[in-house]
Amino acid sequence: MAGLKEKKILVVYGGIGTEREVSLCTGKNVYDTLKSGGYEVEAFILNEDNIYEILSRHPDICFNAVHGKYGEDGVLQGFLEMAGIAYTGSGVASSMMAYNKYMAKLAFEKNAIPTPRYYQFGSGGEPQFMPCVIKPAREGSTVGVSIVHTRAHYKQAGALAKKYDDCVLVEEYIDGKEITISVINGKVLSPIYIKPHSGFYDYASKYTAGATDYLFETGLSDAETDLVKATAVSAYKALNCLGAARVDIIFRDIPYVLEVNTVPGLTETSNLPKAAEHDGISQLELFEMMLATASTEQN
Ligand SMILES: Nc1ncnc2c1ncn2[C@@H]1O[C@H](COP(=O)(O)OP(=O)(O)O)[C@@H](O)[C@H]1O
Ligand SMILES: [Mg+2]
Repeated sequence: MAGLKEKKILVVYGGIGTEREVSLCTGKNVYDTLKSGGYEVEAFILNEDNIYEILSRHPDICFNAVHGKYGEDGVLQGFLEMAGIAYTGSGVASSMMAYNKYMAKLAFEKNAIPTPRYYQFGSGGEPQFMPCVIKPAREGSTVGVSIVHTRAHYKQAGALAKKYDDCVLVEEYIDGKEITISVINGKVLSPIYIKPHSGFYDYASKYTAGATDYLFETGLSDAETDLVKATAVSAYKALNCLGAARVDIIFRDIPYVLEVNTVPGLTETSNLPKAAEHDGISQLELFEMMLATASTEQN
């Protein structure tokens, strides 16, 4: 891609959230791939106390590979924007909206994008749906998420989610087919059908090799596939995303959007690189596409 090879790219990864370990894998893969692709690339592991060191590295572009807290929620984006450093992915407001599942659902509703019915968890209230899913508004990797079938578990699951965020969502449990679908620069990739062996796509199912089947044979009809694709693009647009994002969906008659991930996993085995490869886009090409939309003003 013309011009990009003259730029100094700093891959920022790690971070201090619950997804640090995943981010360390994502960042390493991005760094290695860009390096072997002939790019001028440096690695930067973000810790609690070193964010200002990004400035002394004088990057032209930061490749944001920090999942979750501070990397996906608009905080790192805001820092880079103030410093005038171009960065990959969605801007400050868009990241913040997408990362907060409560706010994202407001945007989905406003844009007539189906999402499971929900309300905010309050300690005294009775469950309005059963089964339901209880989750912190701002987390990832299924951390703090519970599928709840009983009133006793309802309270316990609420307390667990509260450990991660004051804002906790209760959603109607959708018994359907789990689909994840990536959007890169507004263009949708092939959907992937996710089948965890345990029945719940939790942290272990996500990151233990062989614990989950990822299938391009989704079993959806052509019309259903088109609907899933259109819905994913609508969700991406509703949140004003930029660059790469991955939309999590449960399909039951129609696609229900759970969330949009604005810093999706980019390890060799992550869903976005897998979908890209399936569609004839190499990892290097994918990362180049992400770098191509990096800018200093993404709001
Ligand atoms: N309303 C729901 N109905 C059915 N399954 C759900 C629902 N919400 C979440 N899940 C399950 O929990 C997983 C994690 O939820 P998600 O909202 O995507 O949060 P995270 O940011 O942790 O990935 C999903 O991949 C899905 O398997
Ligand atoms: Mg998810």
